[in-house]
Amino acid sequence: MNANKKLRIAVIGGDGTGPEVTREALKVLDAVSKLEGFSFETQDFDFGGERYLRTGETLPVGAVDELRKFDAIFLGAVGHPDVAPGILEKGLLLELRFKMDQYINLRPVKLYPGVSTPLAGKGPQDIDFVVVRENTEDLYCGVGGFLKKNTPDEVATQSAVYTRKGCERCIRWAFEFTRKRNNPKGKKLTLVAKTNVLTFGHDLWWRTFQDVAREFPDVQPDYNHVDACCMWMVKNPEYYDVIVTTNMFGDIITDLGAMIQGGMGVAAGGNINPDAGGTSMYEPMGGSAPKYTGQNVINPIAAIGAMSMLLEHTGFPRAGKRVLDAIQVVTGTKMKSQAAGKMGCGTSEVGDLVVGAL
Ligand code: IPM
Ligand code: MN
Repeated sequence: MNANKKLRIAVIGGDGTGPEVTREALKVLDAVSKLEGFSFETQDFDFGGERYLRTGETLPVGAVDELRKFDAIFLGAVGHPDVAPGILEKGLLLELRFKMDQYINLRPVKLYPGVSTPLAGKGPQDIDFVVVRENTEDLYCGVGGFLKKNTPDEVATQSAVYTRKGCERCIRWAFEFTRKRNNPKGKKLTLVAKTNVLTFGHDLWWRTFQDVAREFPDVQPDYNHVDACCMWMVKNPEYYDVIVTTNMFGDIITDLGAMIQGGMGVAAGGNINPDAGGTSMYEPMGGSAPKYTGQNVINPIAAIGAMSMLLEHTGFPRAGKRVLDAIQVVTGTKMKSQAAGKMGCGTSEVGDLVVGAL
């Protein structure tokens, strides 16, 4: 987007600690916008568990059309202890990803300076790769059903749906991203799938990957089965540059990724619709952590990282980089730990420290 234009962000603080970490991300946005000389405006949307409990709806009629008018969406967290599992996930988060066709879920796995990883002998130079997760298909489509439910003869099916269009657009974007990332250690894109067992759906992914790879002779195409990928992520994370994978596998390996980069307090992601006029949504990967609500102990680094990604991908790459650099100064020199309650300072102080480091 044109840097002279006002950046318009829809803000869904959401449930639990979501609003607290969102506040810090917005604080950092405010500071960096002044330093970089651009203006922004935000509009709050009260979607989440509380609203659902009050009104019975996860997303009101017209909400998606309303959100589409913004340059980007910032989402704090959804998940409420009094709402049954699945309702907010499907009715809000997945609904937005699908309806807005945010077909890329971009999840950097980067160990910041000063952050401890459970991997012995590994440091920031070893843990620095990016997962490109397909975000609209696979087991997430909700295709399936029950037969003879609640009887001893019950049958349940849950189908994975893969389309040529769906995997091709994701794979092509991942190749382009790998090219742009331009890793000095070599540009490598690893397809993570399970072609030895999922001989239909992942065969489609495999063939599409081979086809698209021909358009990118400067990127080394690579393949790992998902189980081996879990092994290498722990044993040799430095092996990876960019990973492209299916929705369900991407969900699983990015939780593993979050752990090796220091936990859910650090991991950020973007649900991206890269098409012209598409609206993308950025979020910390962790949940709403209801037990920490209102205590000023939750780690906002993931939310601030999500804001850095929003800026980077919404036409303000210099501001995004500046925020990322500031985060690393703070993790490297100011924070004791990335765990809630053990940071050595409170949620709002972490936001202040990042602003200070800008
Ligand atoms: C994530 C979450 C979601 C997912 C859930 C909450 C539906 O785990 O963003 O990784 O599975 O994609
Ligand atoms: Mn997940």
